[in-house]
Amino acid sequence: MSVLVDQLGRVATDLRVSVTDRCTLRCQYCMPAEGLPWMPPEEMLTDAELLRVVGIFVELGVTQVRLTGGEPLLRRSIVDLVAGIAALTPRPKIAMTTNGLALGRLAAPLKAAGLDRVNVSLDTVDRGVYETLTRRDRLADVESGLRAAAEAGLTPVKVNAVAMRGVNDDSVAEVLRWCLERGYELRFIEQMPLDAQHAWDRSALVTAAEVRERLQRRFTLTPLPGRGSAPAQRYLVDDGPGTVGVIASVTEPFCQACDRTRLTADGQVRNCLFSNRETDLRGPLRSGATDEQLAALIRGEMWRKAPGHGIGRADFHQPDRPMSAIGG
Ligand code: 5AD
Ligand code: SF4
Repeated sequence: MSVLVDQLGRVATDLRVSVTDRCTLRCQYCMPAEGLPWMPPEEMLTDAELLRVVGIFVELGVTQVRLTGGEPLLRRSIVDLVAGIAALTPRPKIAMTTNGLALGRLAAPLKAAGLDRVNVSLDTVDRGVYETLTRRDRLADVESGLRAAAEAGLTPVKVNAVAMRGVNDDSVAEVLRWCLERGYELRFIEQMPLDAQHAWDRSALVTAAEVRERLQRRFTLTPLPGRGSAPAQRYLVDDGPGTVGVIASVTEPFCQACDRTRLTADGQVRNCLFSNRETDLRGPLRSGATDEQLAALIRGEMWRKAPGHGIGRADFHQPDRPMSAIGG
């Protein structure tokens, strides 16, 4: 089977799979305080369906699979899913983006099943601010989850942080100091218009430039070469060995180097987070499509990938589905 190439010559090798749209938190930049309906279970791919589709992606050249949500650890079969993906040939790298709350219990079994790395979402190290931002008082669980991930060897343990105006923007240096002390690799991500409540506001955006400037008041940042197609610009902090990454998804988009493709929990292929259309695999899958037919659908969806997300353009339209349903 040939690779997943688009009209601009970009090749997708990094598959993001959302395994559930549910979450144990309610982060302000993601979900409303209450009342977001969940996907009906019968619309979600079963483990067998999901593994079959991931296997086809691997045959199409995917070399890294990242499990996301919602919160991926809420899927009861998550350890078996990881083991199933690790059994594919050639075996892809397996990573996960998680809020970390359940890692205390699951880090070791996930590692044993074949998980290579985790990215844990943590935007503040202040308990009260954490509760305001996520609407749940669970900071202690993230801390023990991070420790468990490091102990299990899910390394390097990466931390993802989103800075929000008036919520945690004044404490980015504090979060960096906290991560450096513990050996976690911190990356700041600009807030994107992907919230279920459509409240994103460009004028309130805490930009990558502003995050850098705030960090530089406390630390010396030296840009590291060799960024390649990675979205994060990384910096050595003071004299190292610690580093920090800044991902300017909105102000300095990296769409021209994008190597991603996405599968939602209900079996839709998306060629971009911001795409306004998807290709359904679940229907064909359940009515007997062959691997070749499914591969053709995936290739077709990737071929028409747009040049860029266009956030900031007058005709930009936020995707109808929120991040929790698309996968990070
Ligand atoms: N903008 C930027 N990052 C977001 N995340 C969730 N919603 C947004 C958003 N609107 C982050 C989460 C997680 C990763 C999947 O993306 O914090 O770390
Ligand atoms: Fe849950 Fe992640 Fe959304 Fe926060 S950003 S509510 S952790 S899915």
